[in-house]
Amino acid sequence: MNLLANKVAIITGAGRGIGRAIALKYAQEGASVVITDLKIDETVEAFVKELEGLGVKAKAYASNAANFEDAHKLVEAVVADFGRIDVLVNNAGITRDGLMMRMTEEQWDLVINVNLKSAFNLIHAVTPVMVKQRSGSIINMASVVGVSGNAGQANYSASKAGMIGLAKSIAKELGARGIRANAIAPGFIITDMTGALSEEVRKQWEVQIPLRRGGTPEDVANVATFLASDLSSYVSGQTIHVCGGMNM
Ligand code: NAI
Repeated sequence: MNLLANKVAIITGAGRGIGRAIALKYAQEGASVVITDLKIDETVEAFVKELEGLGVKAKAYASNAANFEDAHKLVEAVVADFGRIDVLVNNAGITRDGLMMRMTEEQWDLVINVNLKSAFNLIHAVTPVMVKQRSGSIINMASVVGVSGNAGQANYSASKAGMIGLAKSIAKELGARGIRANAIAPGFIITDMTGALSEEVRKQWEVQIPLRRGGTPEDVANVATFLASDLSSYVSGQTIHVCGGMNM
């Protein structure tokens, strides 16, 4: 299949985990792929070579998604290098968990800036490009806890609820310009982020999942491919849960 032929996609925080799986799947579907991360090391450079090996154009940029200037410079560079931007995946995200009684202002600010302000920064930067093209697909990586809430993750859950509200608002504001915006709400996905949890916590999660397994980054990448492609041309303002049936 070549679902994303002739499309240029930016995926933030794609050095590893879910973002990396999305970049790989997009390249397999024929997209030109821009990956960003805080640092571009040898592993990421090797990944870019792997993507190029699939016959597509690929490039990695060191860029802090939480920084407004960085995001705008990135988009300028991508337009200069690739000529257009069809898909933006706001994937960069972190956790700094803690109960409210103990949560510091720094923990709150960091998570809101990296998880939510980053999406504002990138959407703000790509909007003029997509409006000019009269097309574009924006995908915000939210989380099931952005819908359900989670004790010990007030900062993270609030940031992910924000990602859903942001996607819905952009869908309403820019739909007439041919731009779609959706959110993906992954459940428990096996990556470095969840690898930091104890075995006991991971087991507790798994028994709550009707499909009885943690998700893979590829499970999320498949849905991100659908939302980036023209298969979803009449889908906008939605949140698709990728959680093995955990949240309904
Ligand atoms: P991860 O920690 O494996 O990868 C995140 C990547 O983002 C890393 O490469 C990191 O360097 C990069 N990053 C962090 N801050 C950045 C910044 N300011 N600018 C640019 N890049 C930055 O995480 P994972 O699991 O792949 O998560 C990806 C997204 O999916 C995140 O938004 C996360 O909140 C979300 N998610 C993950 C779930 C899971 O179970 N793993 C569940 C629900 C949502």
